[in-house]
Amino acid sequence: MRGVESLADRRRNTFNVDEELNAPFDWKHLSRAMGYIKHYKGNFIKTFFISVLAILLTLLTPLLTKLVIDDYIPQKNIPGILIAGLVFVAVSIVIVVCNRARSRLNSVSGQYIISEMRADLFSHLQKLPFDYYDSRPAGKILVRVVNYVNTVADFLSSGLINFVIEPLSMIFIVAYAALFVSWRLTLVMLCGLPLFVLYIFLIKTRQRRAWQLFSNKQSNMTAYLAENVNGVRVTQAFSREGVNQEVMEGLLDDNRGTWMKAAYITHSMWPVTAVLARLVTAAIYIVGVAALTGTAAGLTVGTVIAMANYASRFWGPLQNLGNLYNNLINTVAYLERIFQVLDEPVTVTDREGAYELPVIRGNVTFMNVEFAYEPGIPVLKGMTFEALEGESIALVGPTGAGKSTIINLLSRFYNLSGGTVYVDGHDIDEVTLPSLRRQMGIMLQDTFIFSGSIIGNIRYGRLDATDAECIEAAKAVFADEFIQKLPKGYYTPVNERGEGLSAGQKQLISFARTLLSDPRILILDEATSSIDTNTERLVQEGIARLLVGRTSFIVAHRLSTIRNCSKILYIDNGNIAEMGSHGELMEKRGLYYKLYMSQSGA
Ligand SMILES: Nc1ncnc2c1ncn2[C@@H]1O[C@H](COP(=O)(O)OP(=O)(O)O)[C@@H](O)[C@H]1O
Ligand SMILES: [Mg+2]
Repeated sequence: MRGVESLADRRRNTFNVDEELNAPFDWKHLSRAMGYIKHYKGNFIKTFFISVLAILLTLLTPLLTKLVIDDYIPQKNIPGILIAGLVFVAVSIVIVVCNRARSRLNSVSGQYIISEMRADLFSHLQKLPFDYYDSRPAGKILVRVVNYVNTVADFLSSGLINFVIEPLSMIFIVAYAALFVSWRLTLVMLCGLPLFVLYIFLIKTRQRRAWQLFSNKQSNMTAYLAENVNGVRVTQAFSREGVNQEVMEGLLDDNRGTWMKAAYITHSMWPVTAVLARLVTAAIYIVGVAALTGTAAGLTVGTVIAMANYASRFWGPLQNLGNLYNNLINTVAYLERIFQVLDEPVTVTDREGAYELPVIRGNVTFMNVEFAYEPGIPVLKGMTFEALEGESIALVGPTGAGKSTIINLLSRFYNLSGGTVYVDGHDIDEVTLPSLRRQMGIMLQDTFIFSGSIIGNIRYGRLDATDAECIEAAKAVFADEFIQKLPKGYYTPVNERGEGLSAGQKQLISFARTLLSDPRILILDEATSSIDTNTERLVQEGIARLLVGRTSFIVAHRLSTIRNCSKILYIDNGNIAEMGSHGELMEKRGLYYKLYMSQSGA
């Protein structure tokens, strides 16, 4: 059915592709996550002891009740009752303090785990090569760094330890009940256990699947939201609001639907567990009362009441364990996604034994360079040319011919499929990336302005530059004039898209930024195509300033900009179709000539 995309397909685009989260459970991820926990070992040990203390104290209260009912009330021991009351209050206060301390410790570890994981992810994401980003919606990357890390850290900091504490709590209840109350009634209580375990076992898998589905839908929605916030200008320009709204509402429907289903399953647990718990309590009363009225072997009213109290506490930990198990499965699935990002190989990186590229003069040689973004679809097919120090090389040719690709390879944003690129005779594969890229200045059509100030954006070119140096660079490329006119001059705040600045002004800022970094090799990829006529002359002069004494590569559609270049390469279909100076190529009356004539309107 190639070429036929139904309306439904178009509406439910890639955002509705759920991430596979039902991968088999893998302990390996959990043990790797321990690396994030181990710094907070102290917190976990403290949490453990605090929790145990809280449990032991909580379990004292039924015994207190028993004492009061069986001994103090019949004896009319008023001071005893008062003291028991005070002890009860004191115990309650200590329990509250313990719980508070525990949640504080958990939050502290949780926040550290979040920071550490996000820092690791960010650091890796910054290193990942272009081709990683070529194939992924940014939103789905954000979901991993934001949502998944939250869930995982939550579980690691406060959930995991409960796998020890909850069973311990059950054991304590049974021990208290059997030792201090009545072992016979404890047996009655334990009769309910198989039923509970069976029920939880039956429902848990369904419940987990339902929550996982919800989490998938949520991440789809987040990804769609992220993309649309980024693309809102295009949306409005094409009046796509209605269609996008529909897609969003579809995603929201999925969100709500899956949440309702998961919540329904989860809430259906409560009546069942509540009924089971009541049944067991009823059984304790029946057995207890029967024993009281018959030959009471050590059974008292207080015993039965205390026992009922323990029984009511017995099921909580069991339910919690069921939930914990679900969280564990989820966490491990999320961890898998997180580690997948962290394990994504940095394919463009320094070779073993890579050396610092010394300060270069700026000779560039492409030798039989082959390249394909996707295996089997060659984009450059054995390209050879040379640019000498100080020369300016123009790349022209139809869209999709491979001009930007040549430039991407020169900065080693991708690895070559074949051939070699030399800079001053150094194979760029053999030198360290920063030493190479530091000596290159790249300017693209769409200047990226970072949030901050104008001067901060210029300083992006060289972080240790002083304000005076930044201003000097701006002056050199004729950016000073318009910057001075801004409300706060160089310190005018700008946001990440550079709102309030024209394309030409952004370009001038970018020139200043590049000049400041003082690259030996300068690359302009259609840097002048979106310039308004007001600033065009300035930009041309700015470029002329920038070119002085550097090797430069210029991709431009307006051929008037490149007439004076030392060498013009006409790129067609991944090959150099023509090469020479403007005069030579015009004389040749080939592809370049045709293009030039069509533009000059002759
Ligand atoms: N990131 C990418 N992934 C896959 N293919 C790409 C990518 N970038 C460019 N291409 C393909 O490579 C070819 C050359 O692209 P490019 O060098 O950007 O052309 P130009 O800059 O000359 O317009 C085109 O066919 C384009 O579709
Ligand atoms: Mg291009």
